[in-house]
Amino acid sequence: MSAEIQKVLEALAQVADPVMHIPLTSLEMIRDIQVQNKQVSLTVELTTSSYPHRQKVQQQIESILQGLGYTCHLHIIEKSNAQSSSPAGKKHSLAKPAQNTQEAQAAEQMPLSNIKHIILVASGKGGVGKSTVAVNLAASLALSGASVGLLDADIYGPSVPIMLGLDGKGQPEMIKEGEEQRIIPMHAHGIEAISMGFFVPPDVAMAWRGPMVHSALLQFMREVAWSDLDYMVMDLPPGTGDIQMTLAQRVKVSGSVVVTTPQLVALADVIRAKAFFDKLRVPILGVVENMSYFVGDDGKKYDIFGSGGGAHAAERFELPLLAEIPLAPEVRIQSDDGTPVVISHPNHPVSKAFMGLAQKVREMCPL
Ligand SMILES: Nc1ncnc2c1ncn2[C@@H]1O[C@H](COP(=O)(O)OP(=O)(O)OP(=O)(O)O)[C@@H](O)[C@H]1O
Ligand SMILES: [Mg+2]
Repeated sequence: MSAEIQKVLEALAQVADPVMHIPLTSLEMIRDIQVQNKQVSLTVELTTSSYPHRQKVQQQIESILQGLGYTCHLHIIEKSNAQSSSPAGKKHSLAKPAQNTQEAQAAEQMPLSNIKHIILVASGKGGVGKSTVAVNLAASLALSGASVGLLDADIYGPSVPIMLGLDGKGQPEMIKEGEEQRIIPMHAHGIEAISMGFFVPPDVAMAWRGPMVHSALLQFMREVAWSDLDYMVMDLPPGTGDIQMTLAQRVKVSGSVVVTTPQLVALADVIRAKAFFDKLRVPILGVVENMSYFVGDDGKKYDIFGSGGGAHAAERFELPLLAEIPLAPEVRIQSDDGTPVVISHPNHPVSKAFMGLAQKVREMCPL
């Protein structure tokens, strides 16, 4: 990249998406920059066909470039027309899955020196309770005295704002540190948290495509002013897609916790998750079986979803079964209400199971 293009890119880093406050250059909305004879031509790739800030963004770009003495020619396109052009100034093809382990390892890892352990909470399929486990694991670690962050990596379907009672509590504050913009994480129940849900409504996030999601995630790690953290728990979206790939490639993960349910058919999902993390060389700390059983008013245990799926999966791969979390209405009620059950009902069997999980994570990832 020429020094002049670099200069233009640096200047354009001042233009941020008005809602997310993230520079358009980081969101990879600026592409195909060419500079010749004091004339700049570039493509602005809008994230949706109804991008509401089109005019504002266009005016800002034009005014910055004119301020630098350039005339400019902007080519404004919408997401669906833009799949093949390459983002300006980026080394990696961001949304492209790694072809093999060597490629996965070749991606540049971000140094996160103020975070001792990054723990991923993952599953092969949706709805098994990843977010519930991530939030209660984070809260349990915090209760045990650790400093804890929770990164909601489910960009398309964030759950953390509601589960921590931060929904509708406004956006995170932004501060300037020299030239750098820093995002102050939100705080609840002794946990620092960041989620796309604090910035954009889910219907807007749904329209995002791979590279933008990737940029947002990197920004959550690079630009959020996390405290010195003992543990950062990351709540992943379901499955084994680009978001999981980005995280596994770009940060040093201490281990992943694979959540499953008791049905024996759930084994197939664990197999998928295990193969995925093995390929990316992310250690698996163990399996959590969620919704394991229900204790009725009669005190009896009922295996509503069958039994043995988690244990079977753990045994098959010689992984520890880290916890069996009972099915309990309090879990869902408290999640919807914004207080993790380990905080609202610390003596409930479900909370004891979460505390046991946190204890095992602490033993496997010592400080
Ligand atoms: N042990 C439990 N007892 C009762 N309800 C639970 C339990 N675990 C999770 N739930 C409820 O099940 C639903 C799904 O849980 P959650 O959102 O944590 O799943 P997820 O795996 O993160 O889903 P997604 O794949 O959509 O991200 C929620 O309503 C949650 O409150
Ligand atoms: Mg979830």
